[in-house]
Amino acid sequence: MNASPIRCLITAGPTREYFDPVRFISNPSSGKMGYALAAAARDAGWRVDLVSGPVALPAPEGVEVVPVVTGREMLAAVQELFPLCNILIKVAAVCDMRPKRRFPDKVKKDELALTVEFEPVEDILKTVAAGKQPGQIVIGFAAETQNVEAYARRKLAEKKLDWIVANRVGGARSAFESDRNDVLLIGSDGEKLAFGPGAKTDIAHQLIGYLNAYHFVH
Ligand code: C5P
Repeated sequence: MNASPIRCLITAGPTREYFDPVRFISNPSSGKMGYALAAAARDAGWRVDLVSGPVALPAPEGVEVVPVVTGREMLAAVQELFPLCNILIKVAAVCDMRPKRRFPDKVKKDELALTVEFEPVEDILKTVAAGKQPGQIVIGFAAETQNVEAYARRKLAEKKLDWIVANRVGGARSAFESDRNDVLLIGSDGEKLAFGPGAKTDIAHQLIGYLNAYHFVH
């Protein structure tokens, strides 16, 4: 029986990788799922730190928001806060690649190279999950366009997570930019639960409710 209060770190939104001061690559993540989880976790009485990429959402009341832009900044913020937390929920859609060169000044149109070379961005979740301490729980999200459950299970194992939340992106039922979602919560012990379809705010409360109950009985 675990009676200690929960401190939770949530990451949300996209990250951006710039190749000059005004141009970047990113993805259409709205941050809605992560912000809904932060509000639900706060409602459950958890202390919440929210590391957020650039989104158009107001900071949830009572939640400590740490704004970041790039994957490197998100990694640094997560590495600083994770040791203080019991649970990490990594909803952020981290931009997986960054341009190899970042020009200090705006590149003129006629000087733009036709080919931009990319390098991989560190896997933040994998990096921090590798250093987790006994009692810490790490939860990832898997946004997939196909084979949602199979790919999510692979990530659960590869990144050594306790849980993964799988959802679909792309196409008519895409979770990206939507107010609705339906997800599968898959545990490293084989447990599998479906939540939704429903509003992201409702699914967030159901997920947090489940994790809250889980925390207090283990
Ligand atoms: O491998 P994939 O990007 O699909 O994994 C998704 C999960 O991993 C999400 O929880 C996401 O926040 C996290 N992730 C990360 N750092 C990356 C890529 C993904 O933390 N560079």
